[in-house]
Amino acid sequence: MTKPLRLGIAGLGTVGTGVVKIVRRHADLLTARTGRKIEITAVSARDRAKDRGVSLRGYGWEDDPVALATRDDVDIFVELMGGPDGPAKAATEAAIAAGKDVVTANKAMLAMHGQALAELAENAGQSIRYEAAVAGGIPVIKALTEGLAGNEITRVMGVMNGTCNYILTRMESSGLPYDDVFREADALGYLEADPNLDVGGIDAGHKLALLSSIAFGTRPDFAGIEIEGIQRVTIDDIRQAADMGYRIKLLGVAQRTARGLEQRMQPCLVPADSPLGQLEGGTNMVVIEGDSIEQVVLRGPGAGEGPTASAVMGDVCDLARGLRLPVFGQPADSLDAAPSAIAGLPAPYYLRMALQDKPGALAKIAAILGDAGVSIDRMRQYGHSESAAPVLIVTHKTTRAALDKALEAMQSTDVMASTPVALRIETV
Ligand code: NAP
Ligand code: HSE
Repeated sequence: MTKPLRLGIAGLGTVGTGVVKIVRRHADLLTARTGRKIEITAVSARDRAKDRGVSLRGYGWEDDPVALATRDDVDIFVELMGGPDGPAKAATEAAIAAGKDVVTANKAMLAMHGQALAELAENAGQSIRYEAAVAGGIPVIKALTEGLAGNEITRVMGVMNGTCNYILTRMESSGLPYDDVFREADALGYLEADPNLDVGGIDAGHKLALLSSIAFGTRPDFAGIEIEGIQRVTIDDIRQAADMGYRIKLLGVAQRTARGLEQRMQPCLVPADSPLGQLEGGTNMVVIEGDSIEQVVLRGPGAGEGPTASAVMGDVCDLARGLRLPVFGQPADSLDAAPSAIAGLPAPYYLRMALQDKPGALAKIAAILGDAGVSIDRMRQYGHSESAAPVLIVTHKTTRAALDKALEAMQSTDVMASTPVALRIETV
């Protein structure tokens, strides 16, 4: 048997302790599958005294993750600290310079610095693997990079933030408003330390940037993603969407168009009976469309100790077996710097607004939409109070540019009682 593969793990939080548990629990299984013994030689975290609910006996300890990354008895540096910069990036760079491969779950670091890190690693002949960074336990990086490599990918989309999907589905099942369910999610420990990473769509945007790069052979471009969070989605939006046969999801969509790479992460309406529409709670789903496969749907747990550690160990096993692939599926220096394009393809939209309850208000809004070339498919007015009438409009397919023109014109009338909300209805 070849010599053992030695891991140095930086970060012993949710994911790191999960990895330690799998290495200890499945030592024989991992050896049988990879032909090598996989062992942990040393670990690092901030607080050496903390009880982590798992034995660290027999492992070396480093206070400094860079020191861990460069130890002679470490073959793979497993980065599980998080954060786009700081110690995670410094230790990743140090590991590559010291001739180590890197396995990480850090989507923020790769979305922001993936191109530079991939070039660094590939020039040094090292690998960076990051299955756990996107959709937790779902092997979507592997699916795109390997299993679907014979396809021209036409679209990648998905629900990639479990916390947002929990909040949106819980709002629907409980009838509770956003603020109440947000507090519930907080109490359950679902939210990131900075909740805006979740509800602001940033965490999911990081993940989409990585999938786009592999799917379309482009440099990871987080800055090019149109991002909108779920904070403005109301319980009324959810009820009315359901009434019309839709569910609201924080949906990431990436596609390459003649104008460039279109990437958006925003609340969208999807048909309630579609796989995405039926996705409940903290589960993730990624839908990949390609010229030969048409559509592949991957569904599974997007976060948590077990699923994320499972993905980390999948990467470790690949490296143990000698599988070495470019970080984004093709050499980093061949990735295209495609221009980012804002969503240009026409789609139907859901519009919610409150109008002053006075004669001619609705007619004014209808005229503005008509003038902008936006055609109305369905319209409802319901449950109005003394002063305001909530109105719901579903448009036929239109461009976002035409819709924005209409929304701007509406704002300058004297009939709006609130800022209108516009959500894209995605064809899935
Ligand atoms: P976590 O529970 O907050 O754990 C972070 C760990 O990093 C802690 O053990 C912490 O040490 C250690 N750490 C932080 N700064 C350090 C430093 N300067 N030097 C040494 N150690 C340091 O985080 P997590 O949830 O496991 O997430 C880890 C990574 O996985 C992140 O990139 C995250 O985005 C990604 N991820 C997480 C999940 C998930 O479900 N949790 C899912 C997918 C991806 P102390 O314990 O001593 O404070
Ligand atoms: N905050 C993330 C989520 C964790 O809710 O999906 C997994 O990346």
